[in-house]
Amino acid sequence: MAEGLKILVITSELGGFSKSGGLADAVGALSQQLVRMGHDLRVITPAYASVEQRNQASTVVDSLGVPLDSGEIWCRVLESSLEIEPGASLPKVPVYLVEHEHFYSRKDFYGENGQEYPDNAQRFGFLSKAALQLGLALDWIPDIFHAHDWHAALVPYFLQQIRKTDSRFRKSRSILTIHNAGYQGRYPGYLKSWLKIDDADFHPDCFEDFGGVNLLKGGMLSADQVNTVSPGYAEELKTPLGGHGLHPFYQRLGQDFSGILNGCDYGQWNPEIDPHLPANYSSSDRRGKVLCKTTLLEEAGLKYQPNIPLVGMVSRLTGQKGFSFLIPALQEILEMDLQLVLLGDGEPGIADALKKIRKSREEKFYFKQGYDNRLAHLIEAGCDLYLMPSLYEPCGLNQIYSLRYGTLPIVRKVGGLKDTVEDYRNAKAHGNGFMFQEPTEEALIQVMRKALQTFQSHPKIFNKMISDAMNQRFLWENSAKSYQKLYFKALSSQALERPRF
Ligand code: ADP
Ligand code: GLC
Repeated sequence: MAEGLKILVITSELGGFSKSGGLADAVGALSQQLVRMGHDLRVITPAYASVEQRNQASTVVDSLGVPLDSGEIWCRVLESSLEIEPGASLPKVPVYLVEHEHFYSRKDFYGENGQEYPDNAQRFGFLSKAALQLGLALDWIPDIFHAHDWHAALVPYFLQQIRKTDSRFRKSRSILTIHNAGYQGRYPGYLKSWLKIDDADFHPDCFEDFGGVNLLKGGMLSADQVNTVSPGYAEELKTPLGGHGLHPFYQRLGQDFSGILNGCDYGQWNPEIDPHLPANYSSSDRRGKVLCKTTLLEEAGLKYQPNIPLVGMVSRLTGQKGFSFLIPALQEILEMDLQLVLLGDGEPGIADALKKIRKSREEKFYFKQGYDNRLAHLIEAGCDLYLMPSLYEPCGLNQIYSLRYGTLPIVRKVGGLKDTVEDYRNAKAHGNGFMFQEPTEEALIQVMRKALQTFQSHPKIFNKMISDAMNQRFLWENSAKSYQKLYFKALSSQALERPRF
């Protein structure tokens, strides 16, 4: 690479700062890797109340005017950083924290008690517009604006608008990465004027969606390049069944839409060095894994039985993750010779159903509601099998982590899960996990039986599967190279002057 690119990453979550799911992990690790490769990459994200770094951060812009609604809204921008490797003399990733008392000083990122904050369109529209303004304030105009998910989907549109009037942005291009196409940022139509969406762009082939505003749709049609986080999901998005209602638009993006598989941050997720575990282990010496299992069982109040497999799950509690058929299947699954540990937070209805099951099967099933990073690591390490029966899965990181921890994944054959897990078929084609196709109780119960039988009756094969899984790698180095290619593709193409259709 001749010279590093100036890249501004716009995200609602960032690993080490704010995390509710894999978006934070993916954006954090990708940013670190691109800086390692020599790019001048910086991140802009909200200074939520829970972001501890706010206290040590310095002010970089005291008052930034953001033109939205009928005037300007003001915020302060702080500068912090994300270390690439703790203690190493590598450059850090600069992180701009947008401080706005009303928008971001709240208990959570997106909502409370299962209810979205009613002004999320404004909160994230503000972040997106601030990203454009920050470049001007710092006299640092990015070559690439890399926006993530619906929260930042207005960035490509705002870039188009400013490109028309300000020649400093003439060469800038936008990338929109879709980590979850099920969340589209749909809001009442009247918000379009607050968000500065032109009437001319409020039609069904752009931002308009059944009378409302659809930020993801308008954003993807405005971006110079669009991608999602696995090739499998990219293909599904083009189909009526998998496109979350937007499949014609993914189809029409043609060559400007692609899938790039996420990597795994092995600095964080590696049983050989993981500081959250009572003992470390490697593929050649797995003794430490037993101590992880006994510690986990003790914490869960379950009895240690060496020949009974322990199945784990760490998940946002939401329909995407397959609870609609997992919950009714649990009764039968818990009749099997296994124990199950589940950590998760999210929709109160799902949490209540799980609590009820926990009460009736306390000797076999442990459910902890909440967010707990240490326990998430211990579950990855202490279990024999990892369950991820998602209805849809753009990439999925947990199954990739579980492979590295030698905890064989049981997954539905969908999206990124089918790109990362290899199904056990027989003694010869033993793969590194277990897959099922239909999103039904029966199919799930059947695959659970298969996994159990392999654990109990074919320990040699099961052990071989574990070492194969542990030796597999999904490197961010490779994913970052694909993103770099995408940046150069965008930079060498003519800029879109207006949304596509
Ligand atoms: P998604 O982003 O759809 O939630 P991923 O598998 O890509 O799914 O990533 C989930 C990430 O969030 C993993 O790092 C996982 O450990 C973490 N996670 C999810 N729920 C919890 C929780 N309740 N406590 C701790 N970590 C969690
Ligand atoms: C989203 C997806 C998940 C993906 C993650 C990181 O949250 O649901 O599948 O792994 O983003 O890209």
